[in-house]
Amino acid sequence: MNDHRVKAMFEEIAFSYDLQNSVLSLRRDVAWRKVLAEMIAAPAGGVVLDVAVGTAEVAQEICRRRPGLSVLGVDFSPAMLRVGHKKIAARGLSGRIALTQGDARALPVRSGSVDVVTISFGIRNIAERVAVLREFVRVLKPGGQVMVMEFGYPRNPVLHRLYRLYFDHVLPPVGNWLSRTDYAYSYLVESVDAFPTEPAFLAEMAEAGLSECAVRDLTFGIAKIYHGRKAG
Ligand SMILES: C[S@@+](CC[C@H](N)C(=O)[O-])C[C@H]1O[C@@H](n2cnc3c(N)ncnc32)[C@H](O)[C@@H]1O
Repeated sequence: MNDHRVKAMFEEIAFSYDLQNSVLSLRRDVAWRKVLAEMIAAPAGGVVLDVAVGTAEVAQEICRRRPGLSVLGVDFSPAMLRVGHKKIAARGLSGRIALTQGDARALPVRSGSVDVVTISFGIRNIAERVAVLREFVRVLKPGGQVMVMEFGYPRNPVLHRLYRLYFDHVLPPVGNWLSRTDYAYSYLVESVDAFPTEPAFLAEMAEAGLSECAVRDLTFGIAKIYHGRKAG
Protein backbone atom coordinates (compact mmCIF):
# COMPACT_ATOMS: atom_id res chain seq x y z
CA MET A 1 0.00 0.00 0.00
CA ASN A 2 1.50 3.41 -0.89
CA ASP A 3 1.64 6.27 1.61
CA HIS A 4 -1.48 8.00 0.17
CA ARG A 5 -3.51 4.83 0.69
CA VAL A 6 -2.04 4.37 4.19
CA LYS A 7 -3.00 7.94 5.11
CA ALA A 8 -6.50 7.51 3.65
CA MET A 9 -6.89 4.29 5.62
CA PHE A 10 -6.03 5.96 8.96
CA GLU A 11 -8.35 8.86 8.10
CA GLU A 12 -11.11 6.29 7.59
CA ILE A 13 -10.54 4.13 10.68
CA ALA A 14 -9.58 6.86 13.20
CA PHE A 15 -13.12 7.09 14.65
CA SER A 16 -12.83 3.68 16.35
CA TYR A 17 -9.05 3.11 16.28
CA ASP A 18 -8.67 2.87 20.09
CA LEU A 19 -11.46 0.30 20.35
CA GLN A 20 -9.96 -1.76 17.49
CA ASN A 21 -6.57 -1.75 19.19
CA SER A 22 -7.91 -2.72 22.55
CA VAL A 23 -10.20 -5.53 21.32
CA LEU A 24 -7.77 -7.06 18.87
CA SER A 25 -4.78 -7.06 21.22
CA LEU A 26 -7.00 -8.37 24.08
CA ARG A 27 -5.92 -5.24 26.02
CA ARG A 28 -2.24 -6.23 25.78
CA ASP A 29 -1.63 -2.84 24.12
CA VAL A 30 -2.02 -1.21 27.57
CA ALA A 31 0.78 -3.33 29.07
CA TRP A 32 3.03 -2.81 26.01
CA ARG A 33 2.76 0.97 26.29
CA LYS A 34 3.64 0.78 29.99
CA VAL A 35 6.82 -1.18 29.23
CA LEU A 36 7.80 1.31 26.53
CA ALA A 37 7.26 4.26 28.87
CA GLU A 38 9.31 2.58 31.63
CA MET A 39 12.20 1.88 29.24
CA ILE A 40 12.68 5.56 28.47
CA ALA A 41 16.00 6.85 29.77
CA ALA A 42 15.80 10.63 29.66
CA PRO A 43 16.75 13.35 32.14
CA ALA A 44 14.05 15.32 34.00
CA GLY A 45 12.76 18.04 31.71
CA GLY A 46 13.53 15.81 28.70
CA VAL A 47 11.54 15.79 25.47
CA VAL A 48 10.21 12.63 23.84
CA LEU A 49 9.26 12.76 20.17
CA ASP A 50 6.53 10.18 19.49
CA VAL A 51 6.39 9.68 15.73
CA ALA A 52 3.18 8.25 14.20
CA VAL A 53 1.55 9.32 17.47
CA GLY A 54 -1.94 8.39 16.19
CA THR A 55 -4.55 8.97 18.89
CA ALA A 56 -1.82 9.79 21.46
CA GLU A 57 -2.18 6.73 23.70
CA VAL A 58 1.61 6.24 23.93
CA ALA A 59 2.15 9.96 24.55
CA GLN A 60 -0.35 9.89 27.44
CA GLU A 61 1.21 6.78 28.96
CA ILE A 62 4.63 8.46 28.87
CA CYS A 63 3.18 11.47 30.72
CA ARG A 64 1.46 9.27 33.30
CA ARG A 65 4.55 7.17 34.08
CA ARG A 66 7.26 9.80 33.60
CA PRO A 67 6.20 13.03 35.35
CA GLY A 68 9.33 14.97 34.37
CA LEU A 69 8.99 14.48 30.62
CA SER A 70 7.04 16.21 27.89
CA VAL A 71 6.01 14.74 24.55
CA LEU A 72 5.83 16.07 21.02
CA GLY A 73 3.64 13.85 18.83
CA VAL A 74 3.81 13.90 15.02
CA ASP A 75 1.45 12.11 12.63
CA PHE A 76 0.38 12.67 9.03
CA SER A 77 -3.30 11.84 9.64
CA PRO A 78 -5.44 14.81 10.77
CA ALA A 79 -8.29 12.48 11.80
CA MET A 80 -6.04 10.47 14.15
CA LEU A 81 -4.64 13.72 15.59
CA ARG A 82 -8.15 15.10 16.17
CA VAL A 83 -9.00 12.07 18.35
CA GLY A 84 -5.69 12.57 20.19
CA HIS A 85 -6.30 16.30 20.75
CA LYS A 86 -9.71 15.63 22.32
CA LYS A 87 -8.33 13.04 24.77
CA ILE A 88 -5.37 15.20 25.76
CA ALA A 89 -7.63 18.17 26.48
CA ALA A 90 -10.12 15.99 28.41
CA ARG A 91 -7.32 14.61 30.61
CA GLY A 92 -5.70 17.98 31.24
CA LEU A 93 -2.47 17.05 29.47
CA SER A 94 -2.33 19.90 26.94
CA GLY A 95 0.56 21.47 28.86
CA ARG A 96 2.73 18.36 28.47
CA ILE A 97 1.77 16.93 25.08
CA ALA A 98 1.91 18.90 21.84
CA LEU A 99 0.61 17.30 18.65
CA THR A 100 1.51 18.42 15.17
CA GLN A 101 0.84 17.16 11.67
CA GLY A 102 3.93 15.98 9.82
CA ASP A 103 5.58 13.14 7.94
CA ALA A 104 8.02 10.74 9.57
CA ARG A 105 10.22 11.00 6.46
CA ALA A 106 10.77 14.76 6.93
CA LEU A 107 10.08 15.54 10.57
CA PRO A 108 9.12 19.13 11.42
CA VAL A 109 11.66 19.06 14.26
CA ARG A 110 15.04 20.79 14.75
CA SER A 111 18.21 18.68 14.48
CA GLY A 112 19.67 17.56 17.81
CA SER A 113 16.68 18.77 19.82
CA VAL A 114 15.02 15.72 21.43
CA ASP A 115 16.15 13.20 24.06
CA VAL A 116 14.17 10.18 22.88
CA VAL A 117 12.32 9.15 19.71
CA THR A 118 9.56 6.54 19.95
CA ILE A 119 7.41 5.07 17.20
CA SER A 120 4.77 2.44 17.93
CA PHE A 121 3.20 0.32 15.21
CA GLY A 122 4.07 3.04 12.70
CA ILE A 123 7.30 2.15 10.90
CA ARG A 124 5.75 -0.98 9.39
CA ASN A 125 3.59 1.34 7.26
CA ILE A 126 6.53 3.26 5.80
CA ALA A 127 8.57 1.88 2.90
CA GLU A 128 11.59 4.15 3.50
CA ARG A 129 12.53 2.64 6.86
CA VAL A 130 16.25 3.45 6.85
CA ALA A 131 15.60 7.06 5.75
CA VAL A 132 13.08 7.41 8.59
CA LEU A 133 15.55 5.96 11.11
CA ARG A 134 18.12 8.48 9.81
CA GLU A 135 15.58 11.25 10.46
CA PHE A 136 15.34 9.98 14.05
CA VAL A 137 19.13 10.17 14.37
CA ARG A 138 19.08 13.71 12.96
CA VAL A 139 16.58 15.06 15.50
CA LEU A 140 18.12 13.28 18.50
CA LYS A 141 20.64 14.83 20.86
CA PRO A 142 23.97 12.96 21.08
CA GLY A 143 23.43 9.82 23.20
CA GLY A 144 19.66 9.97 22.58
CA GLN A 145 17.50 6.85 22.52
CA VAL A 146 15.30 5.38 19.78
CA MET A 147 12.54 2.88 20.53
CA VAL A 148 10.51 1.17 17.83
CA MET A 149 7.52 -0.89 18.97
CA GLU A 150 6.24 -3.24 16.29
CA PHE A 151 4.29 -6.47 15.89
CA GLY A 152 6.05 -9.81 15.56
CA TYR A 153 5.34 -13.49 16.06
CA PRO A 154 5.90 -15.75 19.08
CA ARG A 155 9.26 -17.56 19.07
CA ASN A 156 7.77 -20.76 20.53
CA PRO A 157 6.63 -22.92 17.55
CA VAL A 158 3.38 -24.08 19.18
CA LEU A 159 2.40 -20.56 20.23
CA HIS A 160 3.47 -19.36 16.80
CA ARG A 161 1.03 -21.75 15.11
CA LEU A 162 -1.83 -20.85 17.47
CA TYR A 163 -1.19 -17.14 17.08
CA ARG A 164 -1.12 -17.47 13.27
CA LEU A 165 -4.56 -19.04 13.39
CA TYR A 166 -5.83 -16.00 15.29
CA PHE A 167 -3.87 -13.56 13.16
CA ASP A 168 -4.90 -15.04 9.81
CA HIS A 169 -8.47 -16.11 10.51
CA VAL A 170 -9.91 -14.09 13.41
CA LEU A 171 -8.19 -10.70 13.39
CA PRO A 172 -8.90 -9.66 9.76
CA PRO A 173 -12.69 -10.20 9.79
CA VAL A 174 -13.19 -8.81 13.31
CA GLY A 175 -10.84 -5.85 12.68
CA ASN A 176 -12.41 -5.05 9.32
CA TRP A 177 -15.86 -5.14 10.92
CA LEU A 178 -14.83 -2.88 13.85
CA SER A 179 -13.19 -0.42 11.47
CA ARG A 180 -16.12 -0.55 9.00
CA THR A 181 -13.73 -1.36 6.15
CA ASP A 182 -13.12 -4.47 4.09
CA TYR A 183 -9.34 -4.11 3.98
CA ALA A 184 -7.69 -2.36 6.99
CA TYR A 185 -6.94 -5.47 9.02
CA SER A 186 -6.18 -7.65 6.01
CA TYR A 187 -3.54 -5.02 5.25
CA LEU A 188 -2.28 -5.18 8.86
CA VAL A 189 -1.54 -8.92 8.48
CA GLU A 190 0.21 -8.33 5.13
CA SER A 191 2.30 -5.49 6.55
CA VAL A 192 3.43 -7.53 9.58
CA ASP A 193 4.40 -10.39 7.25
CA ALA A 194 6.33 -7.97 5.04
CA PHE A 195 8.29 -6.45 7.96
CA PRO A 196 11.96 -7.49 8.08
CA THR A 197 13.18 -10.27 10.35
CA GLU A 198 14.68 -9.19 13.67
CA PRO A 199 18.33 -9.38 12.52
CA ALA A 200 17.44 -7.55 9.29
CA PHE A 201 15.68 -4.71 11.13
CA LEU A 202 18.49 -4.43 13.69
CA ALA A 203 20.90 -4.18 10.72
CA GLU A 204 18.76 -1.36 9.26
CA MET A 205 18.97 0.48 12.59
CA ALA A 206 22.75 0.15 12.55
CA GLU A 207 22.85 1.26 8.87
CA ALA A 208 20.96 4.42 9.89
CA GLY A 209 23.70 5.23 12.40
CA LEU A 210 22.30 3.81 15.64
CA SER A 211 24.47 1.85 18.06
CA GLU A 212 23.72 -0.58 20.95
CA CYS A 213 20.81 -1.95 18.88
CA ALA A 214 18.81 -4.74 20.55
CA VAL A 215 15.26 -6.07 20.81
CA ARG A 216 12.95 -6.91 23.72
CA ASP A 217 10.00 -9.30 23.34
CA LEU A 218 6.54 -8.45 24.69
CA THR A 219 3.89 -11.17 25.25
CA PHE A 220 5.95 -14.06 23.79
CA GLY A 221 7.13 -11.92 20.88
CA ILE A 222 3.68 -10.84 19.60
CA ALA A 223 5.06 -7.34 19.94
CA LYS A 224 8.66 -6.18 20.22
CA ILE A 225 10.55 -3.09 21.23
CA TYR A 226 13.65 -2.47 19.13
CA HIS A 227 15.97 0.03 20.79
CA GLY A 228 19.22 1.78 19.99
CA ARG A 229 21.19 4.97 20.62
CA LYS A 230 22.72 7.83 18.70
CA ALA A 231 26.46 7.97 19.39
CA GLY A 232 27.25 10.31 22.31
C1 LIG B 1 -1.14 1.73 13.68
S1 LIG B 1 -1.19 3.46 13.98
C2 LIG B 1 -0.28 3.62 15.50
C3 LIG B 1 -0.67 4.81 16.30
C4 LIG B 1 -0.03 4.91 17.69
N1 LIG B 1 1.40 5.03 17.60
C5 LIG B 1 -0.42 3.73 18.55
O1 LIG B 1 0.47 2.98 18.98
O2 LIG B 1 -1.62 3.56 18.82
C6 LIG B 1 -0.03 4.06 12.79
C7 LIG B 1 0.01 5.57 12.70
O3 LIG B 1 1.10 5.92 11.84
C8 LIG B 1 0.74 7.07 11.11
N2 LIG B 1 1.66 7.13 9.94
C9 LIG B 1 1.84 6.20 8.99
N3 LIG B 1 2.76 6.62 8.10
C10 LIG B 1 3.18 7.84 8.53
C11 LIG B 1 4.14 8.78 8.04
N4 LIG B 1 4.83 8.54 6.91
N5 LIG B 1 4.33 9.92 8.72
C12 LIG B 1 3.61 10.17 9.85
N6 LIG B 1 2.68 9.34 10.36
C13 LIG B 1 2.48 8.17 9.70
C14 LIG B 1 -0.72 6.83 10.78
O4 LIG B 1 -1.40 8.02 10.43
C15 LIG B 1 -1.22 6.22 12.09
O5 LIG B 1 -1.71 7.20 12.97
